[in-house]
Amino acid sequence: MRIRLHDLQFEPYIAADAVQTRIAEMGSTLSQQFRDKEPVFIIVLTGAFMFGAQLLQHYSGLCTVHFTRVQSYTGTQAGSISAFTGLPEHLNGKDVIIVEDIIDSGNTVAFLLEQLKQVHTASVTTVALLQKDIPRTSYASADMIGFVIPDYFVAGFGLDYDQLGRNLPAIYRVVAE
Ligand code: IMP
Ligand code: MG
Repeated sequence: MRIRLHDLQFEPYIAADAVQTRIAEMGSTLSQQFRDKEPVFIIVLTGAFMFGAQLLQHYSGLCTVHFTRVQSYTGTQAGSISAFTGLPEHLNGKDVIIVEDIIDSGNTVAFLLEQLKQVHTASVTTVALLQKDIPRTSYASADMIGFVIPDYFVAGFGLDYDQLGRNLPAIYRVVAE
């Protein structure tokens, strides 16, 4: 069923159960990959709050969780970083897992990786629920991706269109009118 967020129409794109299934797989892969470690999950707010919460329920080992806020988007347009709340302290020697909702231009993740260069982490892994299949200059690809999608503007499962749509349990894409 189509929905309207502000001035745009959206149609269902990735069903809620497909999202859940994929996140469960990602969680168990990470559990294997970081077995015997104690990674620090850094959830990038606001968009990744739902993905992060879901992913962590499928992570079976010991871990810690932090949130950072990076803002770069206005409406449906990517932009430069406008707000950043900082990274947690004491990341020295830690295995860091950055959890993002979607990789679009890649500027957000590139920015966080740049910040992390100033810290001697043991490793940095990037995980994104969605990644747009577009050419990027600042950042090539997340290490683990839920779904690679064409260059659609999407909303739902944490992702918003001007703050609306975050609560939707499925992913919707904008309808070209
Ligand atoms: P990037 O820095 O261009 O990779 O974009 C990162 C941020 O922009 C993401 O974390 C999202 O919050 C937001 N974003 C990018 N594409 C979309 C989209 O299609 N829908 C909603 N938000 C998006
Ligand atoms: Mg985001």
